[in-house]
Amino acid sequence: MNTLTIPTPDDWHLHLRDGEMLKGVIGHSAAHFARAIIMPNLVPPVVTGADAAAYRDRIRVALPQGASFEPLMTLYLTETTDPDDVEAAANSGLIKALKLYPAGATTNSDSGVRDFDKVVPVLERMAQIGLPLCVHGEVTNSDIDIFDREAVFIETVLDPLRRRVPGLRAVMEHVTTADGVEYVKANDTDLAATITTHHLIINRNHILAGGIRPHYYCLPVAKRETHRLALRAAATSGDARFFLGTDSAPHPTDLKENACGCAGCYTSVNTMSLLAHVFEEDGALDRLKNFASLNGPKFYGLPVNQSQMTLVKSDQPISFPTGFETGAGHVTVFDPGFDVFWHPQ
Ligand code: DOR
Ligand code: ZN
Repeated sequence: MNTLTIPTPDDWHLHLRDGEMLKGVIGHSAAHFARAIIMPNLVPPVVTGADAAAYRDRIRVALPQGASFEPLMTLYLTETTDPDDVEAAANSGLIKALKLYPAGATTNSDSGVRDFDKVVPVLERMAQIGLPLCVHGEVTNSDIDIFDREAVFIETVLDPLRRRVPGLRAVMEHVTTADGVEYVKANDTDLAATITTHHLIINRNHILAGGIRPHYYCLPVAKRETHRLALRAAATSGDARFFLGTDSAPHPTDLKENACGCAGCYTSVNTMSLLAHVFEEDGALDRLKNFASLNGPKFYGLPVNQSQMTLVKSDQPISFPTGFETGAGHVTVFDPGFDVFWHPQ
């Protein structure tokens, strides 16, 4: 099979940033995706409906001329989030989810949640109105090993929270462990997970063996190979509870190649090529559409895109830029470490 046509994909977890970085990166997502769930971890974060409306306007202004890309906005859940503001923003169609960052878990998460009791009223309102919660699923306690933080979060935070707020619809964002995959599979349709492109490709050896590779460092950090294989099996299975969220997260290259490098892989440019490669390798090309185009809209209750994307397989490897300049500095593109032959037409 040398061509594959699927409904235009969506990205259910994306960091576009703001200002010059936004202008520098948005064209990549708009070229390949019809919609994306936009992460709210700006400085300061997108907390209120008014913040989200203003951010959506800035994104629309930054779009290349003629691009039809719809930003699906989210609010950053804080301990003082007002349930009425959330409901109004959801009812007006402005927001599609709230994002839960445990305080300190990742980039710009200082305003996140420390005391989960304080957010229960908001979560109860979300359950009532069917608004999903996107969850960064890592505990932040310094005594928990970084490679265990997702599994411990599921057991000590997510599962108790879901029991406390029945009917809450939740997405485990960028799931990185077999534990996460199993937890999703053991539950009903109120729970789903996004999987990134890079977590289907790298394990922790890629980051650390033979030299430290800062462009493979993201959060949650890639785990051992058995976990990567569990993610591959989930993504390529067609199971409606797993869908693409690239977590493409641009940082200036000098802040990644740094004594204290930032977390984030930038994959908006090559995600669809890499996914076609991965799905073909696993004999599941026919299920790429489920992962990238069908399962996400189903969970979010949105229509599948009417437009289509055709991916073509070349005889020769295709080349991607290793990086690109933005008004906010140079950004390095995720390098899968193997040749890629598929590309969107
Ligand atoms: O690697 C990451 N980068 N993980 C996150 O959760 C946040 C993101 C970012 O904003 O840079
Ligand atoms: Zn993210």
